[in-house]
Amino acid sequence: MADKTATLTIGDTNLELPMYSPSAGPDVIDITKLYAQGNVFTYDPGFTSTASCDSTITFIDGDKGELLHRGYPIDQLASDSHYLEVCYLLLYGELPSAAQLEDFESRVTNHTMLHEQMMNFFRGFRRDAHPMAVMTGVVGAMSAFYHDSTDISDPWQREVASIRLIAKMPTIAAMAYKYTIGQPFVYPRNDLDYAANFLRMCFAVPAEDYQVNPILSRAMDRIFTLHADHEQNASTSTVRLASSSGANPFACIAAGIACLWGPAHGGANQACLEMLQEIGTPDRIPEYIARAKDKDDPFRLMGFGHRVYKNFDPRAKVMKQSADEVLDLLGIENNPVLQVAKELEAAALADPYFTEKKLFPNVDFYSGIILEAMGFPTSMFTPIFAVSRTVGWISQWKEMIVDPKMKIGRPRQLYMGATLRDYVDIEKR
Ligand code: CMC
Repeated sequence: MADKTATLTIGDTNLELPMYSPSAGPDVIDITKLYAQGNVFTYDPGFTSTASCDSTITFIDGDKGELLHRGYPIDQLASDSHYLEVCYLLLYGELPSAAQLEDFESRVTNHTMLHEQMMNFFRGFRRDAHPMAVMTGVVGAMSAFYHDSTDISDPWQREVASIRLIAKMPTIAAMAYKYTIGQPFVYPRNDLDYAANFLRMCFAVPAEDYQVNPILSRAMDRIFTLHADHEQNASTSTVRLASSSGANPFACIAAGIACLWGPAHGGANQACLEMLQEIGTPDRIPEYIARAKDKDDPFRLMGFGHRVYKNFDPRAKVMKQSADEVLDLLGIENNPVLQVAKELEAAALADPYFTEKKLFPNVDFYSGIILEAMGFPTSMFTPIFAVSRTVGWISQWKEMIVDPKMKIGRPRQLYMGATLRDYVDIEKR
């Protein structure tokens, strides 16, 4: 309910627009009746000032550098909780009891296998395909394999689709990887936890035993947790928009994966590590800082800047600490890429260009260093982001489906094209 109004004056007309006060964050002006009452649209490319929905899942205070899931700070969840518990929290709104968590974990664990016929689908791709290309296709194809969970009006089917997606995404990502390196697929094992199972499916081969290193599985779990949700980012908004037409959940999540792939979004983790490797040594940092500042050079410092955070991304803080811990525990001393990352961060934060524009390291700045130390190639970084973010997409999708205000997403435009004119025959043009 609106507790305030905002007055908009257009010519001689004053329009009273309802204003809502959220539980946290700035007030929101409701413009849904603006076109009907004022015959005008609002204009906001990139949605920099527009709330597209109301939500109770995740809150970000970009000035403070705060990220809360259902009210719980991300640093507490990253240190004291684990990924599947955070999945439960995002999906159902509260931390689970021991019995609820056990039941949830067992439901996820029992859905990790893929329909066997889907293996043929993988084999249709070129071996050198990017794993994100394979994932987009295979997840989209799930709607052809799991018909019994595509009716979005049935709460039970929505629940089954949610569990299937969370459970099968690591299997799909690992198989996409195995396919591109020409190794046999490794099937999931139900005695392992979510992160350990994923590592085994990526790195085991049938020819020998593979023991999951608990340090690595803990680090993997933390990376999953840190990426689990991030309110109305580009891929989540893509999932919501796709779903607003009534499309099935597998199609919507495939759309989210496609959006995530871009280098301004989830693709930044791959781009960032490749940039750090290209810089190579600290003496080349000034050259890259200068390029990032040059308006005529399209180069940007990857892993830096964020639409919402105008302060440290709290996920980057945890990730930086994790990078130190993981490299230390793995006995990797003096990692040159980590050294370049730390010196690049320090150089950027000492430069007025970055401080004045409030550009700080984001989640992708340090994650690639950890993933590389674990043995992942850069092409797997964004698929790992997609595995982690699946629960966020699904939680937001579930929230949207039951929202009585849900409508098909249909933005308007500021049309600047030609006005009405007559068709001209080709010989007269
Ligand atoms: N390096 C150099 N300059 C930058 C950078 C950067 N990484 N990011 C922003 N700027 C400048 C930009 O040129 C612009 O300058 P000016 O005002 O003089 O034109 C100003 O800062 C504002 O940038 P913007 O592009 O208008 O900001 P945005 O909110 O539209 O973009 C962003 C946010 C994340 C796309 C952008 O900061 C960027 O491209 N960063 C690098 C890619 C990256 O790390 N992406 C991962 C985001 S976090 C993971 C996720 O959730 O997806």
